[in-house]
Amino acid sequence: MKSVLIAYATRYGATRYLAETMSRLFAEAGVAADLHDLRSQGPLGDLSLYDGIIIGSGIKAGRWCKEAEAALATLIDTSLPTGLFVSCFEAYKSGEEQAAATYIVPKAAMLDTPPKATVALGPVFDLRPGLTLGFMEKRLYNAMLGRTRKEGIAVPDGEVTPLVSEDDLKRFVEEFLE
Ligand SMILES: Cc1cc2nc3c(=O)[nH]c(=O)nc-3n(C[C@H](O)[C@H](O)[C@H](O)COP(=O)(O)O)c2cc1C
Repeated sequence: MKSVLIAYATRYGATRYLAETMSRLFAEAGVAADLHDLRSQGPLGDLSLYDGIIIGSGIKAGRWCKEAEAALATLIDTSLPTGLFVSCFEAYKSGEEQAAATYIVPKAAMLDTPPKATVALGPVFDLRPGLTLGFMEKRLYNAMLGRTRKEGIAVPDGEVTPLVSEDDLKRFVEEFLE
């Protein structure tokens, strides 16, 4: 595999951070990984340049971003190898396996050919200035943050803190390239 596309949709920036980290891990493995933000750049374009396609989404109220769902729907009968990942609190709270069963397995079942690699990753707190949240979103975001800090994990204001296992990310990239 020489080049892959990582297309992602994010509401609070976590999935972008994870897509960028994945892109770096692919580069370290000698594979060029382009990034495509489905919310700001629009739907997937021509994939003929790529040897594989990865779709990532954040989870809100149990749902993928609709832009990532739409991208996945266009890949149902693709001949390209696919990979799927999500960012969600469930992966931190209950573990990768349970989060994947909830948020990835039903999406993977949509594809004619099963994805080569899947992973449910935890959230990434981005506490730098600039994140705008609605009232309910702020309550849920702060509840998630409060719970994490209560468990003794440092999540400093003004910084980006991933609650993500680097090993899970590496395993995903390795499986995709196998
Ligand atoms: C309003 C709101 C709703 C959320 N709902 C869920 C949920 O249903 N399940 C879950 O596991 N995580 C949930 N989360 C946590 C997000 O999935 C987590 O913050 C993730 O990193 C978001 O990814 P994104 O920033 O790329 O959108 C929620 C977070 C917020 C702020």
